[in-house]
Amino acid sequence: MRYIDELDVGGARTFIRADLNVPLDGSTITDTTRIEASLPTIRWALDHGAIVIVASHLGRPKGTVDPALSLRPIADSLSEFLQRQVMFAPDCIGDATERLVRGCATGDVVVLENLRFHPEEAKNDAGFARQLAALADVYVNDAFGAAHRAHASTEGMAHIVPQTAAGLLIRKEVEALSKITESPERPLVAILGGAKVSDKINVIENLLTKVDALLIGGAMAYTFLRAQGHATGKSLVEEDRLDLARTLLERAQQSGVALHLPSDHVVSTALDGSAPAEQAGIEIPDGTMGVDIGPATSERYGAEIAKARTVLWNGPMGIFEVEAFSAGTMAVADAMAKSPAMTVVGGGDSIAALSRSGKSSQISHISTGGGAALEFLEGRTLPGLAVLNR
Ligand code: 3PG
Repeated sequence: MRYIDELDVGGARTFIRADLNVPLDGSTITDTTRIEASLPTIRWALDHGAIVIVASHLGRPKGTVDPALSLRPIADSLSEFLQRQVMFAPDCIGDATERLVRGCATGDVVVLENLRFHPEEAKNDAGFARQLAALADVYVNDAFGAAHRAHASTEGMAHIVPQTAAGLLIRKEVEALSKITESPERPLVAILGGAKVSDKINVIENLLTKVDALLIGGAMAYTFLRAQGHATGKSLVEEDRLDLARTLLERAQQSGVALHLPSDHVVSTALDGSAPAEQAGIEIPDGTMGVDIGPATSERYGAEIAKARTVLWNGPMGIFEVEAFSAGTMAVADAMAKSPAMTVVGGGDSIAALSRSGKSSQISHISTGGGAALEFLEGRTLPGLAVLNR
């Protein structure tokens, strides 16, 4: 794949498709991680004499204009980070936007309004892609978080703009995630959590061909435990996935992967923390639900992480948003932070848990991609990357 630093962007209208899909509270950005992650590519382009056009989606406005999902606050935030004036185009296409961009000089930065205000974006409409392409001499995709979407701005326009490349964030993401899927230092350990086995089937299947050990936590562990015949009380179990769970357990055994399941639990009668947290052994008592891995499991998982030379973590071990149910997830965050291994964390919940633990800076790579990182780890081709590989 070609990257932006192999291009001459001097004087070129450089269209940077970023993933600036940040969480908002009203018009206040509550987490600027994705904006900060897009800065190296934007700065590189500016340092090399480009005219920079930044485009992104925000939320899922479904093809209509929703003022609550305007990119204007993001343009303001970008201006603060870059310490320079940033212009805002109230539409991502059209005559006024083309005039604004044509009037720009080297060093100017324009942020376009939310791409998804147009239904043609998600449909990868060729005419819309051509209108976006008309703004650019050079197209750079740096939106790793949206690389699994074949939309006009992530895929379509790359067929039209004469010069294309990936950005520096995409390089960082692809290099880090490929360390897991292609060339890990061993032992390679993956910790998977979250509510449902069904959300992670393809990741589990692909990781079973790569990892030395797979540690399972979160509610999806209860489906595996039930499949093994253990009592799971009122815990969330996907009854229709029990056969699948058995197949995955067999497959792990056949491929020599140590698949670890919780051997003790934190249980409660309420998920929201309104009832006390109790400790339970491997069998979950009737009338209670598993809400976190127990202390013995945390210790065992911590020891596995400590032995690893490459570690991937995706998904919390329990309902970490409730303080009394957060110890297992925090123990994993702690073990990841202490590990001298290459540590990679993906998925919104594990990233939020990590940030709550205050240990984010001790992780080798925190992916900005949710669905995109999972699809990458599933071994799937991401359209936003494939089009740049042509
Ligand atoms: C994300 O938040 O995972 C990306 O920005 C993609 O957003 P989407 O799932 O709405 O396409």
